[in-house]
Amino acid sequence: MSSGLHTAYRVVRRVEEGAAGVSLVLDGTLAAEPGQFVMAWLPGVEERPLAVMDDDPLSLTVCEVGPFTCALCALRPGDRLWVRGPFGHGFGLHGRRHLLVGGGSGTASLTLLAKVARSRGHDVTAVLGARAAEGLMLEWRFREAGARVALTTDDGTAGAHGTVLEAVGPLLAEGWPDAVYGCGPEPMLRALDARARAHSVPCWVSLERVMRCGIGVCGSCHCGERLVCADGPVFRAEDVLPG
Ligand SMILES: Cc1cc2nc3c(=O)[nH]c(=O)nc-3n(C[C@H](O)[C@H](O)[C@H](O)COP(=O)(O)OP(=O)(O)OC[C@H]3O[C@@H](n4cnc5c(N)ncnc54)[C@H](O)[C@@H]3O)c2cc1C
Ligand code: FES
Repeated sequence: MSSGLHTAYRVVRRVEEGAAGVSLVLDGTLAAEPGQFVMAWLPGVEERPLAVMDDDPLSLTVCEVGPFTCALCALRPGDRLWVRGPFGHGFGLHGRRHLLVGGGSGTASLTLLAKVARSRGHDVTAVLGARAAEGLMLEWRFREAGARVALTTDDGTAGAHGTVLEAVGPLLAEGWPDAVYGCGPEPMLRALDARARAHSVPCWVSLERVMRCGIGVCGSCHCGERLVCADGPVFRAEDVLPG
């Protein structure tokens, strides 16, 4: 359970992630469940939600999309940032064969799930997709955890040519996964859930919304009647993405 107070961390190491991203390895740990998030704060810039990419050491993966993420991507070893959390409900483990599907920076929400599942001896396949090779992130982290990895790009510049659905389809058809877990653009998650449902495989997704407080107070992150920060960010897909 988080105290809600900020803790200061220093960046120990940077790992470049494609053309527009970086993983920041920090100088401490954070007890978090796979799929939970933190509110990361840079004084004078902003405070924004980021997935816990790893818990020990605490690591965050950032994709440059605007002022806050650009400032985070510019941090160097020794620089400080402040974190409160972890917050929200994460992914539970459902069964023993887990199919993880990540698009772009959404991939960061799935790495800790791979690590925890593999540490229990479960089978994990991660399908990572992006528009082009430079958008792929965190393949190294899934391999380090002992997961099988399949890559797809819309333009064919890395991995299989096409979307994640092309790689997911055969695994679902052969009855491999006990459960599917996704994070990425919502159209991708919707299509993923539709595929999973067609094969009667349960699907959990992590949603992103604009967040301000991160603790269910400000109402900025609503998804229908639910608050993504407090009720999610992980939901059973059929509850939030009706097909
Ligand atoms: C639970 C959760 C986990 C996330 N995990 C990661 C992660 O691990 N790595 C990562 O790179 N990004 C992650 N994001 C998205 C990240 O928070 C936003 O990209 C970031 O806040 C954008 O801030 P900015 O100032 O750089 O860009 P802005 O110029 O503010 O916005 C750029 C884009 O980000 C969206 N955005 C803006 N503010 C927020 C906000 N407070 N919350 C969510 N989206 C916002 C906007 O709609 C816009 O599309 C996550 C979001 C959520 C909700
Ligand atoms: S971010 Fe404030 S209620 Fe969810």
